[in-house]
Formats: sequence, C-alpha cells, structure tokens
Amino acid sequence: MEPITRREALRFGALGALGVVAGGVGLSRTGLPWRPAASRPRAGGSVALLEPEVVRSQDGLLRVELAAARREATVAGRAARVLTYNGTVPGQTWRVRPGDRIEVLLRNELDTPTNLHTHGLVVSPRDNGDNPFISVDPGQSFEYRFDLPEDHPTGVFWYHPHRHGTVADQVFGGLYGALIVEGDEVPVSRERVLVVSDITLDGDGELASASAPQVMMGREGDLVLVNGQVRPELTARPGERERWRVINACTSRYLRLALPGQDLALLGVDGGHEPAAREVEQVLLAPGNRADLLVTTRGGTSELRSLGYDRGAMGMMMGAGDLSGPTTLATLAVSGDQAAALGPVPERPADPDLRDRPLDERREIAFTMTMGGGMMGPGRRGMMMDLGFDGRPFDADRVDQQTAAGSVEEWTITNPTPMDHPFHLHVWPMQLIETNGEPVSEPTWRDVVNVPANGRVRTLVDFTHHPGRSVYHCHILDHEDAGMMAVVDTR
Ligand code: C2O
Ligand code: CU
Repeated sequence: MEPITRREALRFGALGALGVVAGGVGLSRTGLPWRPAASRPRAGGSVALLEPEVVRSQDGLLRVELAAARREATVAGRAARVLTYNGTVPGQTWRVRPGDRIEVLLRNELDTPTNLHTHGLVVSPRDNGDNPFISVDPGQSFEYRFDLPEDHPTGVFWYHPHRHGTVADQVFGGLYGALIVEGDEVPVSRERVLVVSDITLDGDGELASASAPQVMMGREGDLVLVNGQVRPELTARPGERERWRVINACTSRYLRLALPGQDLALLGVDGGHEPAAREVEQVLLAPGNRADLLVTTRGGTSELRSLGYDRGAMGMMMGAGDLSGPTTLATLAVSGDQAAALGPVPERPADPDLRDRPLDERREIAFTMTMGGGMMGPGRRGMMMDLGFDGRPFDADRVDQQTAAGSVEEWTITNPTPMDHPFHLHVWPMQLIETNGEPVSEPTWRDVVNVPANGRVRTLVDFTHHPGRSVYHCHILDHEDAGMMAVVDTR
C-alpha cells in the first residue's frame, strides 16, 4: 500500500541509506537467491523496525476492508512480488476490546480461492463467523462478522487465510496480520507488535514454490522476517519497560525466542495469562503460537534470537536442510539516559481451571502419517505419505468428533510420528493439563499445543460457548493442506 512505501522511503531517506536505490532497481535475472537489502553494509547500520499500520475499533466496532492480492511490496528491504493484505506484509494490526464486533469485507484478488480465519478468537464458527468451510473464489467478496463475547480473553491473536488446500501457499506468500484484544493494560514505555514469518524469494523477487519433500516436512523460508524486514533494529533507553506482542506466523518454523542481556518476562501465550509477569530465559512458539512479553532494558546491544529447535524428521526427509535452526530475528540497541521507573505490573486475575468442572467425555485423537499409495504423484502436491488424524485425511463432509454443547471434555492428543506437530483447535481454547505424562499444575490456556514426536498431551476443552461445526488441525500448514485436519461438531 502506498502510504507504507512512502513512510519506508522517508525512513530510509532519513538514514541516508544507499540501499534503497541499489536494492530497488536492477533485480537480477540470474535466479540467484534473494539478497535482503538489510544484509548489505549501510551508512546508518541496520534498518529501524517498522510496524504495520494500526486500525482500532470505535464504539465497539472495527470495520475493515481487506483485499488479498499479489502485489509488489517491500520485503527484506527490497521490492518483491508477494501476497498482501491491502498491499503490505504483514497486513494491518487490528486492535479491539472484549465485547466488540469486527466486520471484514474480504475481497479475493488472488488467482486461488481463499477465506479468513481469526486465529484464537473465541467466536462463533457458524455462518459468516469464523467459519473455515467458506471458500471465496477469485474475483469474489465475502462479508465476515465476528462478535467477541464480553468475557473474551485479552491477548495476542492473528488473522490469516484458511481455505483448505491453499493455506500454506497463501500464508507463506505473505497473508497474515496481528489482532490484539486489549483490556489488560500494563504501564510500559512502549508497545511493539512483532510478526515473525519466513519466506523464500528467487533472484527476481518472486515467491519460490515448495518441493514435495519440503511440503512433507513443512516448508521453511530462506528469509526470516520481523514485520517483513530482515534483522531490523529496535532502540530504547536503559530501564525502559516494553511490551512485545510476538506472533509466530511462520508456515512451519518453530521459534525458541531468547533475548540474552535483557530482562524478559512472560505475560501470556495465546489466550492464556500468567497471573504475574514471569521471568523467562526463553519461550518456545510453535507455528501459530503467540507470546505477550515484557522486556526491561539494560544498556548494550542484544539480539532477539531463535535458539533453534529440533522438531524431528521423517527418515526419508533427512537432509531436507536444517529445520528451525538458530537465527537472529532482530537487534535491540539500548543506550542513553536511564529512564524513570514505571509503576508496578498489576496482578492479573487467575485464568479459570476446568479441573473444577465435572468431565462429560474423554477422547483420544492421533496424528497419523502412513505410507500412502501415491508415491511422488504428479506435480509438487505429490505426497509420499498420507497425513491425517486417526488414519484418515480431512473430509469437510465427515464429522470426526461430535460433542455436546455445554460439556467439558478431556482430549488426549497422541503423536506416534517421528516429528512434532502443533495441534490447533478453532474457537474452543484448550487447557493444557499434561505433556508426556508431566502434569501442568497452573491453569495453562492455549489454542496451539505442541505435541512432541512420539509424545502425547492431555487437554481439557469447554464446549459451553459457540455451538457449530469447526476444525482442528496441524499448524504446520503444509500438513494441514495435505489432510492433517478434521471436523468437530458441537450441538
Ligand atoms: Cu492459524 Cu486453523 O489456523
Ligand atoms: Cu504436522
């Protein structure tokens, strides 16, 4: 979108950077991999972090027009042809409060079908709500409406496409944005939204497609981006307290966040809240997870790192490259006068504990990868294995779990495969109570729960609100598109 481009141009101009001109013209036709402009030496050091434009609800309503289109946009400091919401990567940040209504007019200007998912929102999955069965064809529009209940959890959420079969390509291509539910303010010097994603571009700045083995493992991009930038720089004074809203919007990459040299505290993950900010050394975010963090700054320059995470591999996929390896996401330069101290971080009400409620049902659900018939079929969609749950691939017309409205259920998710899978249930958040036999004592609410290779987790799910039909799936989005998704119907 033009305003962003202009703002970036101004910002680059202010830095006196030559990289804009050098990077913006003469894109090579050599097919060499995309070189982010930020990796080039520049007069002013690295580039300052940009943040997506913010739109917020007014009088209880957020009204958004959202055009999904392949456009030229600035990625990694250079012009690339990517998928955009309203012309930018990431899309705008939406800010709302519990009880608000969000209305979205989605226009599909892509050449493949799409739709919209408000990831993590506790809203109706029916009709024109958070309904994953909707398909909006190229050239078509669709009017969405999401009504957040008054007791909706605060925190970090996000929006992205969810049309089965095109989800991974579209998210990898650039379609995602942050969605913040406010209402749990903490005194801070500033708040930042950090949307982490990855992408692969060829030497012409065009999106690279994924090979069959990459799809089977879950593709990871060559470039790791923060708000569409490579290793942007954040600046602060010592003694400041910042609130960082971090989203793992990567298609398949796990992030193990750390910020050595600074004081990092966790306020929450997904829609779950820590009762008091908890000091942490690192935070694991599976694809789809979000973190609400407090950073108390100390003088010096620190790197926001992903420490690397071993998410396993299928035997035949060994050598598909280093997956979710260590990488630097951004730098934080802290200098200047000590900032004045801020008021204390308020205590927050404890999240509910479903263990206090009677249990109506128990079920077990297994991620499955089985040798399929179709060895390397035609085209890159050719699969070497069949992915699904309980041995079956996704079928929108089949109900896999029938649950009773108003009930509380225990779901045990097992993973007999040699790689981790992040389990995401729409609309009904899960309380994690056990991982690999280890009980979780504090109420811990998530909408994406990582299920380790050859491991299992136990969760509790409250089906009191929002009857209707929705899905659960692997948030390695290539796996979801390949069939690792199933239908839950609540009535
Ligand atoms: Cu973020 Cu069903 O997805
Ligand atoms: Cu998976």
